[in-house]
Amino acid sequence: MKLMFLGAPGAGKGTQAEIVSEKYNIPTISTGALLREAMAKGTELGKSAKSYIDAGNLVPDSVVIGIIEHRLKEDDCKDGFILDGFPRTVPQAQALDAMGVNMDLVISIEVPDEKIVTRMGGRRLCKKCGSTYHILYNPSETEGKCDKCDGELYTRADDVPEVVKERLHVYHDQTEPLKDYYASKGKLVTVEGQEQVADTTALTLAAIEKFRG
Ligand code: AP5
Repeated sequence: MKLMFLGAPGAGKGTQAEIVSEKYNIPTISTGALLREAMAKGTELGKSAKSYIDAGNLVPDSVVIGIIEHRLKEDDCKDGFILDGFPRTVPQAQALDAMGVNMDLVISIEVPDEKIVTRMGGRRLCKKCGSTYHILYNPSETEGKCDKCDGELYTRADDVPEVVKERLHVYHDQTEPLKDYYASKGKLVTVEGQEQVADTTALTLAAIEKFRG
């Protein structure tokens, strides 16, 4: 099964992708996570991506397309995968088509902008394994520590309100048109993001099971 999550920054794509990945045993490929990993390691890719990410802008298409093309060739993708945060522009979606990758289902998680700005301030990520938490909506058992690997939790530099607003602007301008792109192919389903993670998960899994028949 090849699934894609679309949605504004902070809509809950990564959170749902993590849950769906465990349930169906297929890997999640998040360009944001891959770029943050490169930044943490201080590689050339990470250094060049940092200025775009910290400002809330998109990393150039050619860079992320190259990352995805390389990643999808790995063995763990042969029985399916979840794309989280890619594609983010129409040229990226066209590049995916040109790679011969035919998505089964594209799930767009819808959350109003006002909710996103307040939600982002409470997000925490694990430094070691990248798992996502929220201080109110999805807290870890021990404050500041990851439930899965005991890694330290941190706040992303691009989760400050000014940068979140710029990311929302970029989303509406460059990424939202992808909803029409995949709707016209008959692949798009919409899930209304709920107040609680588990409620969004129930709607997401129902959409997937409906597709699987
Ligand atoms: P990326 O990491 O992909 O960021 P994003 O798309 O902005 O999405 P987020 O990770 O911020 O949010 P999410 O929807 O996954 O939400 P989450 O589940 O964490 O990209 C970062 C940057 O990298 C980009 O800005 C860009 O510069 C660059 N980049 C990446 N891909 C690129 C590409 N293809 N092309 C060009 N540049 C690219 O949830 C958010 C918070 O809310 C969490 O704390 C969570 O616990 C909580 N939460 C989740 N669901 C709920 C719920 N239902 N109720 C309450 N709280 C919830």
